[in-house]
Amino acid sequence: MAKIFYFTGTGNCYSVANRLSKRLNAELVAVTHYLDNPSEVNDEVIGIVTPVYSTDLPPIMVDFLEKLQLNGAKYIFCVATMGAMAGRTLYHAKEILNRRKLILHAGFTVQLPDNSIIFPSGMLRTHKLLKAEAEAVNTISSLIEGREENSAVIKDFFFWKIAAGIGMWTLRVVLDVKHKKLNEAKCNGCGICAKICQAGCIKMENGRPSFSDEGCLTCFGCAQWCPREAISLGHLHPMGKTKYVHPDVTVQDIVGSSES
Ligand SMILES: Cc1cc2nc3c(=O)[nH]c(=O)nc-3n(C[C@H](O)[C@H](O)[C@H](O)COP(=O)(O)O)c2cc1C
Ligand code: SF4
Ligand code: SF4
Repeated sequence: MAKIFYFTGTGNCYSVANRLSKRLNAELVAVTHYLDNPSEVNDEVIGIVTPVYSTDLPPIMVDFLEKLQLNGAKYIFCVATMGAMAGRTLYHAKEILNRRKLILHAGFTVQLPDNSIIFPSGMLRTHKLLKAEAEAVNTISSLIEGREENSAVIKDFFFWKIAAGIGMWTLRVVLDVKHKKLNEAKCNGCGICAKICQAGCIKMENGRPSFSDEGCLTCFGCAQWCPREAISLGHLHPMGKTKYVHPDVTVQDIVGSSES
């Protein structure tokens, strides 16, 4: 009847998708899992929960929206979770679906703590945003149940395209975030980073992770979930107030849901 697809690095999208699935009685499907086994989806209600990367859709969500095979969907909605600014994320989802002769009926945003290391939300704001999450998702759920249509107000601006391009270039080239480095002295060999990586970029070898940059989704999950702050992403290194994972989500939630 209803399916909710999500991609998550540090749990915000998992948490929102999970809340929505309970309220809407929908099946939860990890985007990474769908992309491994693409097949026709026959549900009437389709939800898509995505993080915002550089004021745009993460590349894996672009790939997913290009490949998603829908048959008979009557209502499609997208929820973007973000630290502060969604930019053209919802518009981009609408544009891809439109090109494929599909309709994005409604788009919503949920502000949650920022996992990007560059713009940490801070302790007070993190607490406030997490406290407001349940109500924000309840409001969105009610709108979805009432089949809210707000597609007409989801617009693009030239500025967003430029901002997204510069942001992505800064992350990839200037900050070099796909290039992971290990602090050997801190690493305890727990293997969490290898488990959490949905791109298969991390393998444990002789009790230590070995990283590949190829295919990295820049989800920041490995560095953020590492209990020893042993992983740097290029010039970024989560520690202290820049370290964040959703407090209600576990490694098993993320690993289990992508394997289910
Ligand atoms: C590479 C990267 C880029 C990001 N860019 C933005 C951004 O442009 N605007 C924003 O509000 N949040 C941005 N964020 C923060 C995430 O969108 C936000 O924390 C999201 O809820 C994380 O979802 P997740 O925990 O499910 O991975 C970025 C995060 C990452 C990892
Ligand atoms: S999660 Fe951190 S401590 Fe554990 S193996 Fe990976 S780098 Fe080492
Ligand atoms: S290696 Fe890349 S895709 Fe894998 S967890 Fe780290 S940031 Fe995410």
